[in-house]
This record gives sequence, structure tokens and C-alpha cells, in this order.
Amino acid sequence: MIQPQPKIQPLISRRTSGLKGRIKVPGDKSMSHRALMFGAIAIGETRIKGLLEAEDVVNTAKAMTALGAGTFRDDEGVWHVQGVGVAGLQSPAQPLDFGNSGTGVRLALGLMATTPLIAQCIGDASLSKRPMGRVTKPLEEMGARFEAAEGSTLPLTLHGAKNAVPIIYTLPMPSAQVKSAVLLAGLNAPGRTTVIEPVATRDHTERMLQAFGARITVEEKDGARHISVEGQHELTAQEIDIPGDPSSAAFPMVAALLSESSDITIENIMLNPTRTGLIVTLLEMGAQIEIKNKRVSGGEEVGDLQVKASKLHGVRVPAARAPSMIDEYPILAVAASFAEGTTRMDGLEELRVKESDRLAAVEAGLQKNGVLTQSGPDWLEVSGGGAPGGGKVATHMDHRIAMAFLVMGLASRIHVSLDDSSFIATSFPDFVGLMKGMGARISALEVK
Ligand code: S3P
Repeated sequence: MIQPQPKIQPLISRRTSGLKGRIKVPGDKSMSHRALMFGAIAIGETRIKGLLEAEDVVNTAKAMTALGAGTFRDDEGVWHVQGVGVAGLQSPAQPLDFGNSGTGVRLALGLMATTPLIAQCIGDASLSKRPMGRVTKPLEEMGARFEAAEGSTLPLTLHGAKNAVPIIYTLPMPSAQVKSAVLLAGLNAPGRTTVIEPVATRDHTERMLQAFGARITVEEKDGARHISVEGQHELTAQEIDIPGDPSSAAFPMVAALLSESSDITIENIMLNPTRTGLIVTLLEMGAQIEIKNKRVSGGEEVGDLQVKASKLHGVRVPAARAPSMIDEYPILAVAASFAEGTTRMDGLEELRVKESDRLAAVEAGLQKNGVLTQSGPDWLEVSGGGAPGGGKVATHMDHRIAMAFLVMGLASRIHVSLDDSSFIATSFPDFVGLMKGMGARISALEVK
């Protein structure tokens, strides 16, 4: 079942100089999904401050309610989740609609897989094209059953295991979603479930499960991470404070680097080392980014980022860095098109299965705006020197493609337009307002 799409919103962005201001971006998306889900199966009431109130996460909150957890938002914006215990989730009366969110559906499949419930999962046209086999395969080994559309895509129906089996699973691709799905299934399986991760990916599941009192261990063996959970032990409700999302901060950060005379500060950004690959890369490119007020909050490193307009130069971004900046390649490619020289990015195979085929969508957008590129199955090379602009970008229901090219228009000679910006609401609902507040020239494009 394909859901009706929100109204199409074409936008245009124009060359801007002097972005100024202190801003806050919304709460981290990965942590927000997890806080709601772990709260749903904990004992007691979890209270979440700074939850990302965007479509993807709101869909997760609705799914947790449909599975029997109590969720409500108080007048101060704090979310309260009344948990039902690790074995307490119930079959939902209606299909669970995860909208645009791969994280929402893949983590929820893990959460439900070892409880004997039946749930149908649906999503929008973009999510319905994305591969679910990467999670259904290990979850089947744990005893769950799935009826899926062709090619293991949504809509799919999950039959949770009556007699769950713990497994040892080596991740075939570097994916925090797959790792998390198996670990969450392990929470209600008897005995020890282990995920072996040859390449480290974001570790919010491990950190937050530890905070919720799960019996979880992480060991390094022969260069791989072995993460194990002992199942069928209850979690304890927590108070969680979610810092700003580095993947959202990436857009104003690059906008300030590219728009001359800019000087902005982005407050309270999560700086977990499994998420900071973009900052590392931009610093190598010559960016003036200063991390101030470094501190630890809610188990995560956090800081304020002061960003000033900078002259960038091209670099080679190694494949090994990809997991720590997997969502940031669209905006890095935009930054690279204004750098001096060529930037080469390797290890991009996972970009093909994001909200869109991001490698193809980014390359097409760059070329439409006069940027020279070359690419292969898992790499992209961008020639710098400045994007002429003037192109209309196809965003393919992908929020990060939309935000990246709005940033391009702030620095290109001719304006850049988007076919549709409505999907920005999945992760960063006030993006345009926040950018305009710093002086960005972004406006609605009249459709003739
Ligand atoms: C996420 C993991 C990444 C990332 C996504 C969020 C998560 O996906 O792209 O935006 O919260 O676990 P993969 O696990 O597919 O790499």
C-alpha cells in the first residue's frame, strides 16, 4: 500500500554572502528512534528531552504506541514513553507506517522479531524500494517469518518468533541498522546473541542499551567488534537528553564555509567519533571549523561548532571513513565542487540504497549545475573550481539531496532550484526557516 505523498514544494536558492548567527539544529535522528524504541520495551517511564520532532521519528513514536507502549509529549516538549517490558509488545491493529524511514522500519523489525506478534509494515514509495532482506535474513535465523513484496521490500508482514533462537551474525555490509536489528531481536531471545562487525559503524545502540541496563558487552578481536547481548533481561526506563544531529548540522556548516564572509556557531552538536567523518574531511580540505565548549552529555561527546567562510582544496576521502560520514556525501560533494582541485570519494556502495540512489542523484545534480564529475559503482570524483549553477535538481524523495543542493545555490553564480523540498520534513522540518534566519536567500519557486 503506497501512502499519499505530501504536497510538492519546489524551492530556489540564490547566492548569499555573510551568513551570521548562533543556531541549534534538531535532535539526533539515530538517537531519537532508539530512545523511543528502547523506552517502549523498558520497565517504567522513559523521559526524552530534545527528541527530533520530524516525520521519520514521529512515525516511530506512532508505531511504538500501536505496539502497546504509551507515548505522549508534554507542554515542555519532553516525550514520555511508558514501556511494556522486553516481551510485552502486542500485535498492532493497523499496519505500521514508517513513511520514508529505513532506520524506523529496520530497527522496529528487530525489536518485534522475537515476540510472537503479527505486524504489517508499510512505507512511502522511496522506502518501498529499499532492501529489507539485509534484516529479514538474520531475523529469520532467529525464528521470525516474513511475507514480503518481491525482492524483500515493503509492504511486508512479520510473524514474530514463538521460540526465538540467539545467533552469532557477521555483518555482510557496514550497517548500523542491521547491527541494531539483530541486537534488538537478541533482547528477547534466550541466551547470548552476538553481532560481529568487521568495520565499525555508529554505536548509539550499544551506548544507549548500556544506559538502559542491558547486559551488553563489546570486545575487539582481530580488528573486528564483537557485540553481545544476553536476552530476556528487563531494561530500566531512563532520562535521555538528545544533542543536535551532526548530519543535520552538516548543511548549515557547509553553507557557512561556502558563502563568503560567513561566521556562524552551531550549538550542542553530538560529536560521537563514529559520526564525525565529515568534520575530519572538511578540516583536511582547509575548513575553518573550531570545536568549542567540548563536554559529555547523555553519554555522548558534544560541542559547539564555530564555522567561518573558508577556501577549500580537494582531497581523497578514504573508503575506511565512509561509515562515519555515510549520510554526509551529498553535502561533501557540494563542498567539493567549490574546492580548488579534485575530490575523490571511495567506498560509496551503500549510497546506492539510501532514501534514493544517492550516488546517482548527487552526480546528476552536480552535472545539471555545470560541475564535472566521474563515477564508478562505488566511487565519485568531483572537479572543483566553483559550481556555475542554473540547474533544476531532481530530489527523488530524498531530504539530504534537497538540503545539499539548496546549499549549493547559496554559493553558485546562478540560482539552483529543486523539483521538491517536501521531504526535508522527514529529518529537519525548519531547515529553510533556520537558514533564512542566518540570511540565506531561499524562496518558493512558482510552478507554471
Ligand atoms: C542509521 C544508520 C545508517 C544511516 C541512517 C541512520 C542508524 O544507515 O544512513 O541514516 O540510525 O542506524 P545504514 O545502517 O543502512 O548504513
